[in-house]
Amino acid sequence: MKAVYVKEFGGAENLELREVENPPRTAGKEVLVNVKASALNRADLLQRKGFYPAPEGFPERILGLEFAGEVSEIGAEVANFNPGDRVFGITAGGAQAEFLLSDESLLASIPENLSFTEAAAVPEAFITAHDAIFTNARLKENETLMIHAVGSGVGLAALQLAKARNIKVIGTSRTADKLEKCEKLGLDFGIVTGGVSFDANPKIFAELVQHLNAEKGIDVILDLVGAAYFQANLESLNLKGRLILVGTTSGAKAELNFSQVMSKRLKIIGTVLRSRAGGEKAEATAAFAAEVVPLLADGTLKPNIDQIFKIEEIQKAHEYLESNASFGKVVLEF
Ligand SMILES: NC(=O)c1ccc[n+]([C@@H]2O[C@H](COP(=O)([O-])OP(=O)(O)OC[C@H]3O[C@@H](n4cnc5c(N)ncnc54)[C@H](OP(=O)(O)O)[C@@H]3O)[C@@H](O)[C@H]2O)c1
Repeated sequence: MKAVYVKEFGGAENLELREVENPPRTAGKEVLVNVKASALNRADLLQRKGFYPAPEGFPERILGLEFAGEVSEIGAEVANFNPGDRVFGITAGGAQAEFLLSDESLLASIPENLSFTEAAAVPEAFITAHDAIFTNARLKENETLMIHAVGSGVGLAALQLAKARNIKVIGTSRTADKLEKCEKLGLDFGIVTGGVSFDANPKIFAELVQHLNAEKGIDVILDLVGAAYFQANLESLNLKGRLILVGTTSGAKAELNFSQVMSKRLKIIGTVLRSRAGGEKAEATAAFAAEVVPLLADGTLKPNIDQIFKIEEIQKAHEYLESNASFGKVVLEF
């Protein structure tokens, strides 16, 4: 089968589409998926550079964390899927290949209104966002959510999920143009952070946020950016606010004033999907299938596709994601 292969860890020029061995025959609850489309993630860029090794049992040099495709074979104990079914989901690696083995508990059925290309833009962004803001941070309907890098794949998914429950959302981006597009998707207020060091002025950021939010602090912050906004986040949170840490593009280390966290009784939560045990991933997938897929089926939620590349254009796709120009997902078609 064809797969996206990392020849040497380093730049995008080291990627190629290579013939590799097909996965073994299905056993037990395994499903063999004929992948029709996948999408890129920041983790692919890091793995390509040799900074984010695949967990044990997943290919070191075949990239890909999400897929949409057709069931081609099922193990003897598979209960919920049959050959020919259209499925999508997440995996810890190897999704940018023509075939992929997945446990059935990590698959969801693609709604009829979505093509494979559209479906491939959904799993990583929507499962991460749903699991972070609702399952982990317990965001409620009368609360306010702030999303850093709201124009990212995960950010746009979180924005749509929150607006589907009528939750007020403030978003940040370094790019004004992305915030304008987000406002068309329901963002209540956007804050351009490009060129401004809010880490140096955390109180100014918090005052601005309060001004935008009827003089109240924020209940939940979905941080897809990392260290640069840490102080500003602590200043901006309401009493009993929750900060959910999901990404580290701006750095992974910051200083913490314990008293600030204690006096406001804040919760700082970290999350990562890729290295979770199968059972926990299955729970996140089941929550996605129950609460997100029906909203995709009725059109309330929509995949956020920025660009579609043919799988042969994998080098160009990586360079594009790395440029930070994307607004939503970069999809790869087989
Ligand atoms: N923990 C998990 O399980 C998990 C799962 C999925 C994704 N993630 C992480 O979540 C984050 C978002 O993922 P994604 O796929 O949605 O990202 P994406 O679509 O690639 O967008 C990332 C955006 O972050 C902003 N950004 C990049 N570098 C930045 C910096 N140094 N400072 C501030 N902003 C910066 C840029 O937008 P602007 O134009 O707005 O600056 C960029 O477009 C990534 O860090 C990713 O690794 C974590």
